[in-house]
Amino acid sequence: MSQTITHKTTHGPAPESLGPVTSEEAKLLEKLDLTRLPRHVAVIMDGNGRWAQKRHLPRIAGHRSGTQSARTTIETCARLKIEALTLYAFSVENWRRPKTEIDFLMQLLREYLKKEMPLLQKNEIRMRFLGRIDELPAGVQKDVREATEKTAGNKGMVGHGAPDKVTEEQLSQHLYTEGLPDPDLLIRTSGEMRVSNFLLWQIAYAEIFVTETLWPDFNRARLLEALVEFQKRERRYGGIREGESSSDENPARAAGH
Ligand code: FPP
Repeated sequence: MSQTITHKTTHGPAPESLGPVTSEEAKLLEKLDLTRLPRHVAVIMDGNGRWAQKRHLPRIAGHRSGTQSARTTIETCARLKIEALTLYAFSVENWRRPKTEIDFLMQLLREYLKKEMPLLQKNEIRMRFLGRIDELPAGVQKDVREATEKTAGNKGMVGHGAPDKVTEEQLSQHLYTEGLPDPDLLIRTSGEMRVSNFLLWQIAYAEIFVTETLWPDFNRARLLEALVEFQKRERRYGGIREGESSSDENPARAAGH
C-alpha cells in the first residue's frame, strides 16, 4: 500500500515557501530550477531496519524515526508545489514480516494519520491510498478511508465501460494512480537497485535516483539533492537529443529502430 499526496498547483513556488533553510539547503536551492520540478515524485522508503540496527535499537525504532522523514518529505514537496508524492508504505511482500512488526507498522500509520491531519489540511494536501486497502486490518481501513474523505476535495469518478481492446490510456485509468501523472522521479533510499514491485507500469519513464542514505536520515537536503539530480538528467523518452536529429536522412534510426 502506498499513500499519494496530491497538491493543487495554482502558481509556481517561491524559494521562501520553505521557510528558514540551512546553508547546505540554500546551496542546493540555488542549483534548483523551481519551474522544472517533477510533477510526481514516488519514494521507496527503505533502510529503517538497518538504521535501527546500527544504533542497537529494535527495528521498530527505525520505523518510528522514518515517520519524521515522511513528514519532512511531504511538507517540502507540498511547499515546492509538486503535484503528487507517493510514498511506498507497505508492500504485499511485507506481510511476510513478523506479526509484531506488521502490527507496529499498522499502528504507526494510524497514529501518523491522526497526528498529521492538521498539517495535511493546512497545506491543502489531498491524501489517497493506493493498493489493496481491503486487506488491511479493519481499524486501519477505517482510518485510511476517513483520511481520504477528510482531504478529498472535488474529483471526478472513474468512468466505467468494457472496451473491446485495452489501450494504454484505458489501462492507466484502471490503475490505483488513476488521474495522477506518472511519476517523473523515483527515489529509493538505502542503496538497493530494485523497484520492488512498486508502480511498475507507471514508472516506465521515471528517472530513478538511488541514494545510500537510510530512510530515517533522509532529510530536506537529501530530497533537494534528488531534485537537483533529476534536473541534470536528459529525458528523451526513447528519442534523440535535440539538434542531433538525423530524422530527415535516416528516419528509422531516429525512431530508435
Ligand atoms: C523500509 O524499511 C520501510 C518500510 C517497511 C515502510 C514503512 C515506512 C515507514 C514506517 C516510514 C513512514 C511511515 C508512515 C506511516 C508514513 P525496512 O524495514 O525495509 O528497512 P531494512 O531494509 O533496513 O530492514
